[in-house]
Amino acid sequence: MTTDAKPTSSQPWLHQKGPVIQEFGTVKQFPIALSYEARMYSCQRLNQVLADTQMLYGLYKKHHWIMRGATFYQLHLILDKHAAAQLELVDTLAERVQTLGGVAVGDPRHAAEITSIPRPPDGVEEVPAMLSRLLEAHESILTQAHDAAARTGELGDDGTNDLLVSQVIRTGELQAWFLAEHLVDTPLVRA
Ligand SMILES: [Fe+2]
Repeated sequence: MTTDAKPTSSQPWLHQKGPVIQEFGTVKQFPIALSYEARMYSCQRLNQVLADTQMLYGLYKKHHWIMRGATFYQLHLILDKHAAAQLELVDTLAERVQTLGGVAVGDPRHAAEITSIPRPPDGVEEVPAMLSRLLEAHESILTQAHDAAARTGELGDDGTNDLLVSQVIRTGELQAWFLAEHLVDTPLVRA
């Protein structure tokens, strides 16, 4: 952009660059009656759950696309439904980090660096293996969420505790139930 643009110009200032104005892993001071330490701790735990939830969302979409077999349609639909709920959690977790003055993990490459969810093969696994992989990702997130909920609660961060308990844990447990029932080896027609 040239310097002859006047304030009245409608020309957008394109291709702008700037320094980082808040580093990842820091929190700003916000007047929300929570200590700096509590907000730092919550942001760190939330960002881990956020990164893992982004991976779970990705796993759900991947498996929604590559599902196969006699129950393809049912699984195709339910995996997409679960993906949508996980994507809502991603947004809620990220906005909780921002509410606490932190910086949410946003870029999927950043999330991939810090996630604890194992990377699946790029190809296609057998259906029960795909469902088991999703269940294991759920349990990993649930384990973290229980611990993080208890400890953020102890530090006085009731909002983060509530989010983890009433949204992350409840949603994860319900979705794990729906997945696990697909792994019961029961006859379809004759007992
Ligand atoms: Fe789709």
